[in-house]
Amino acid sequence: MTDTPDRPTLPDALKRVLPAARWERVSGGQSGAQVWRSTRFVVKVQARAPHAVSLQQERERLRWLHGRLPAPQVVAFEVEDGQEFLAMTRVPGIPMSHPDALLHPERIVTLLARALRELHALPIRDCPFRQTLDVTLPLARERVQAGLIDQTDFDGDRAGRSAVSVFNELARTRPAQEDLVVAHGDATLDNFILNGEFVGALIDVGRLGIADRHADLALAHRSVRSELGERYATQFLDLYGRALLDDTKLAYYRLHDELF
Ligand SMILES: Nc1ncnc2c1ncn2[C@@H]1O[C@H](COP(=O)(O)OP(=O)(O)OP(=O)(O)O)[C@@H](O)[C@H]1O
Ligand SMILES: [Mg+2]
Repeated sequence: MTDTPDRPTLPDALKRVLPAARWERVSGGQSGAQVWRSTRFVVKVQARAPHAVSLQQERERLRWLHGRLPAPQVVAFEVEDGQEFLAMTRVPGIPMSHPDALLHPERIVTLLARALRELHALPIRDCPFRQTLDVTLPLARERVQAGLIDQTDFDGDRAGRSAVSVFNELARTRPAQEDLVVAHGDATLDNFILNGEFVGALIDVGRLGIADRHADLALAHRSVRSELGERYATQFLDLYGRALLDDTKLAYYRLHDELF
């Protein structure tokens, strides 16, 4: 095990902007970013890497979201020695998946469905970011070719398959049409911050962009199922609106997520 430092090592430019503070490490991240928080700020630190979502992308998307939907505000962004540093305001509240989120599961899925409906109702013509399949499938191919996919991490029903076979299936079964919305891109419960009884902010928005709504629904549905159970996962889809749903696409975007 490596020792975890008790404070982030920040570039001077960032130290000048952020007031002296006690920092604590936030655990639970899977994206490869180190996440630190003080009482007022959050800093994400990540090595620049090809074929991966950068903190620069997250910064651009946070800036775009500002004034549209509640999200942290960007405070500073720096790159030093191959590392990216993104400082933002800390939003009050806790992730929806947190054990201290003592809301009834029915309330949680109601809020999640509402937050996604609201995001998906933003006009796509205003959004400069594209995450449609013509963008993501070539990226997935590059990630597979670069050996970046953890094949041991595939969902149970796909355990043992190769990343190449998953990619080939995605290419072969690509939906003819995408039902385009502004999508979060990583719509799991931990990326929605609950403030009291309401969703206070969307976070972790590095993959936000125009995509089929099922890109979000597939991940949100799976996240609710694993955190709250099948019954509430079904209820989540009912609340979002069955008329908009396509089960084949839900499965497609679950498969798609294996390569990201
Ligand atoms: N601006 C913020 N305000 C309050 N808490 C935050 C903020 N940003 C991040 N957090 C906390 O830190 C956790 C991790 O941050 P984030 O989701 O951005 O990165 P990550 O989890 O490493 O990425 P991934 O979800 O892809 O693994 C969040 O679940 C949340 O608890
Ligand atoms: Mg996250």
